[in-house]
Amino acid sequence: TEQKATNVHWHEGDIGRAERGKLLGHGAATIWFTGLSGSGKSTVAVALEGVLHEQGVLAYRLDGDNVRLGINRNLGFNAEDRAENIRRVGEVAKLFVDCGAVALSSFISPYAADRDKVRALHEEAGLPFIEVFVDCSLEAAEARDPKGLYKKARAGEIKNFTGIDDPYEAPANPELHLHSDQQSLEEEVEAILALLRERGIIP
Ligand code: PPS
Repeated sequence: TEQKATNVHWHEGDIGRAERGKLLGHGAATIWFTGLSGSGKSTVAVALEGVLHEQGVLAYRLDGDNVRLGINRNLGFNAEDRAENIRRVGEVAKLFVDCGAVALSSFISPYAADRDKVRALHEEAGLPFIEVFVDCSLEAAEARDPKGLYKKARAGEIKNFTGIDDPYEAPANPELHLHSDQQSLEEEVEAILALLRERGIIP
C-alpha cells in the first residue's frame, strides 16, 4: 500500500525491546496460523494461549472473525480486501511483538504473497515470524463445518468461499506443518511449544 502522508518521521523512544523483554522475562514472536476455514486455527491458538499464560508468557490472539468485527469491519473477501486484511493484521501483530508479547494470528491468509509480506515486515525489523500451516483436508473441514458456512457456500449463498470457489495457497516452507485432521490438539500445542523453546523465545 502506497504511503499517503508526507513529512512523517519515525520517533525513537527511550524504552526498547530489550527493556520490555527484561520486564516480561521471555522473548516475543508472531505465530502466524494459516489454513482453511474450519481447519482449527483458532482452536489451536486458544489452547496455546492458555498454556503460555499458565507458564507466565504474555500471549495475545488476533483472530479473523474478531478483527473483522472491529478494525477491519470495512473489508470483505475479494483478493484485494483479503490482502489489506492481512497487511493491517501483520502491522498490528508486529506492534504486539515489539511490545514483547507472543502474537497469535489466526487468519485464513490464503495468498502466499500476502503472508510473505508480513514475514518480510517482521524480518526487516529483526522480529521472529513463525508460520504454522494448520493443514486439514477440505473434506475434514467441510465435515466439521462449525459455522455452517461450507453448506452455504455449496448452495451458492456465499460467494468466493475459500476452498470452494476461492483459492487457498498452501505454504511452501512453513516453520511448522500441523495436520489437524490427524493430530490431537495436545500434540499440536506441544509441537509449537517445542519450537518456541528451541528458538529461545520461551524458557
Ligand atoms: S482472510 O482470507 O485471511 O482474509 O480471512 P479471515 O480474516 O481469516 O476470515 C475468515 C473467516 O470469515 C468467515 N468467512 C469467510 N471465509 C472465507 N471465505 C469467505 N468468502 C468467507 N465469508 C465469511 C469465516 O467464518 C472465516 O472464519 P474461520 O475461522 O477461518 O472459519
